[in-house]
Amino acid sequence: MSLLSIENLKTYFHTYRGLVKAVDGVSFNVDEKEIVGLVGESGCGKSVSMLSVLQLISSPPGEIVGGKVMFEGQDLLKYRSKSNMMNSIRGAKIAMIFQEPMTSLNPVLTIGRQLTESMEVHLKMTPQMARERAVELLRLVGIPDAKRRLDAYPHQFSGGMRQRMMIGIALSCNPKILIADEPTTAVDVTTQAQLLELMRDMVDRFNTALIIVTHNLGVVARYAERIYVMYSGRIVESGLADEIFLEPRHPYTIGLLKCVPQLGETRQERRLEPIKGLPPNLINMPPNCAFLPRCNYAIDRCNLEPWPSLKHVGGRHYVACFREILEKS
Ligand SMILES: Nc1ncnc2c1ncn2[C@@H]1O[C@H](COP(=O)(O)OP(=O)(O)O)[C@@H](O)[C@H]1O
Ligand SMILES: [Mg+2]
Repeated sequence: MSLLSIENLKTYFHTYRGLVKAVDGVSFNVDEKEIVGLVGESGCGKSVSMLSVLQLISSPPGEIVGGKVMFEGQDLLKYRSKSNMMNSIRGAKIAMIFQEPMTSLNPVLTIGRQLTESMEVHLKMTPQMARERAVELLRLVGIPDAKRRLDAYPHQFSGGMRQRMMIGIALSCNPKILIADEPTTAVDVTTQAQLLELMRDMVDRFNTALIIVTHNLGVVARYAERIYVMYSGRIVESGLADEIFLEPRHPYTIGLLKCVPQLGETRQERRLEPIKGLPPNLINMPPNCAFLPRCNYAIDRCNLEPWPSLKHVGGRHYVACFREILEKS
């Protein structure tokens, strides 16, 4: 049984311009200690999916209209957002970190306090115990002079250091799952690699599952064991990293892969091709495949029939496309 299993999740926004089906029937599962990537262009519904798991969707305008979020044998959607159950899940059992740490770190509380608070609440630690563990956590995430740094405020650290702290805070209560939503978008490439390595080491040490959410397929390539590709509110392809990278089947995945620089390849050797066109506006979508207007492989059926559902194509590989495409890369 999976640690987390999202089944046919639907999260819509009621806006004055129409209904936005931000997440439209997403199924997704994560096993214990697994590292999973959720990839897709900006606006495809990645964050809304993850925020729905934790019931952090503001309502109105948002509404989780259907589906299940099974975690430790319970459907979390049966509990209200403000219930004790959800409070005990958020931060403690399922932790989430975001792109910009300054929005999640509290600027007026010391780093020490932000680390110890949830451990005192969720793990019932004494202030002394929590402080000792806070020092240990800061050390583990690579913050030098940890003991003294506990009394500093977030603005006294660099962006990369703040991201490290976020990782420490997120893991402070030994969550089962860490969701990292575009955690490295705001930092330079070197820092990005260091943070991803750090996250991987930390989840390995704490036996935590990790969901890496990103628009950059290159980021998940090195770290994720399994990948979900999302387009326009749906999963269009999923599989083991090797299945996705070596035998991509959805035209969108193939397009995304063409945007990823290959290791050791110079710019002159191959031009990176961005996918032509723009992701669709999610308001009042037509019923057929949302990728159709940008697709180089479309057939008549794509125009005539509603969006195909995910089909098993071997191994752990699933694809939602009428065409049988297989490009060796
Ligand atoms: N509060 C909101 N009100 C209306 N639409 C929203 C709101 N939040 C997100 N959306 C819409 O939901 C879609 C998915 O957004 P999001 O999950 O943030 O995308 P991603 O994380 O993949 O970049 C977008 O079209 C976005 O405009
Ligand atoms: Mg997002």
